[in-house]
Amino acid sequence: MKPTSKRKIMILTSGGDAPGLNAVIRAATRHAIGSYGWEVVGSIEAYNGVLSDPMKVMPLDMKAVSGLLIKGGTIIGTSNKGGPFEFPYKNEHGETVTADRSDELLKRLQYLGVDAVICIGGDGSQRISQQLYEKGLKIVGVPKTIDNDLDTTEMTFGFQTAVACATDALDRLHTTAESHERYMILEVMGRDAGWIALASGIAGGADAILIPEIPFDLDKVCTKLMERHNRGLGFSLIVVAEGAFPLGGVPQVAEERKPGQPNPLLGGVGHWLAKQIREKTGRDVRETILGHLQRGGIPTPMDRLLATRFGVGAVELIAQEKYGHMVALRSDDIVAVPIVDAIQKYRLIDLDHNLIKTARALGISMGD
Ligand code: F6P
Repeated sequence: MKPTSKRKIMILTSGGDAPGLNAVIRAATRHAIGSYGWEVVGSIEAYNGVLSDPMKVMPLDMKAVSGLLIKGGTIIGTSNKGGPFEFPYKNEHGETVTADRSDELLKRLQYLGVDAVICIGGDGSQRISQQLYEKGLKIVGVPKTIDNDLDTTEMTFGFQTAVACATDALDRLHTTAESHERYMILEVMGRDAGWIALASGIAGGADAILIPEIPFDLDKVCTKLMERHNRGLGFSLIVVAEGAFPLGGVPQVAEERKPGQPNPLLGGVGHWLAKQIREKTGRDVRETILGHLQRGGIPTPMDRLLATRFGVGAVELIAQEKYGHMVALRSDDIVAVPIVDAIQKYRLIDLDHNLIKTARALGISMGD
């Protein structure tokens, strides 16, 4: 650790929350203050804090971050609407439109005396980081998303807590499925990648796992369920990622994209699937949408550990002036990767991935 000149750094949390955000804030603050003597501030609700009048910026010191390891959410708030390049506001007709306020953001950061920014966020947030970096902002990234779909890192924090939550839900559904001889469907998060569905499905003993990477064939899913039935197993558990869709179909959209929002809101595939399976098999089917329970609560020890390593790593990136980079987990080490590489594509599950082979080896239907 080399001594560096006194700096003021800003931390912000951006996009949907994920268990472990506070652990990153704690680790980065402790390392920045304790090891380098820097000043740390947090922008409230991502970039909104800097762009609001008056500005909402919170000092982060050792006391402010004390006790944060076990706290879900983020003490500095977050937003998954807009950002400085597409800042949403209401026009004179009351319609929500967007404006590019990125130049103003840079001026405001200069006015605050901020030397460097740590952006903790997923794919959409790191796209904004890259754009700001190209405009001259000294920014580094920390990969976050329960979906685990950010490329160039082998894992994002928040994922393992979400998997624990989904597995717990499957364990609970298992008992009712068995008692009533029913088919129970669990819809979990995962817009583009099915990591949560696949990991929790294997850990929770599911009989079918449906993920966005493999469009499913409804007849094949039902055949699998009936096969079990014929073997005397009248109950089955099915995990479906919110972004999964049938062959030739599209994901179920709960709400269309609004101005300043990155994506449409997905949801409803579990309900749709329950109806189809009920009709095709004539059996009792129930669905549960796990939703935001997956994003809340106490982070698991492994997520706290990853978040803490990322927080320390992000401060190291600033100390080494490796701006435009993001910390990433690779072969159990924390390394620096260019943000521009991380946002090229989603980290989808490779069809040859060992988890898929493992699921198939167990006789779990992947819907194909
Ligand atoms: O990106 C994480 C995620 O959990 C997605 O799987 C999901 O579609 C999205 O967030 C929902 O976000 P929100 O309801 O907060 O808009």
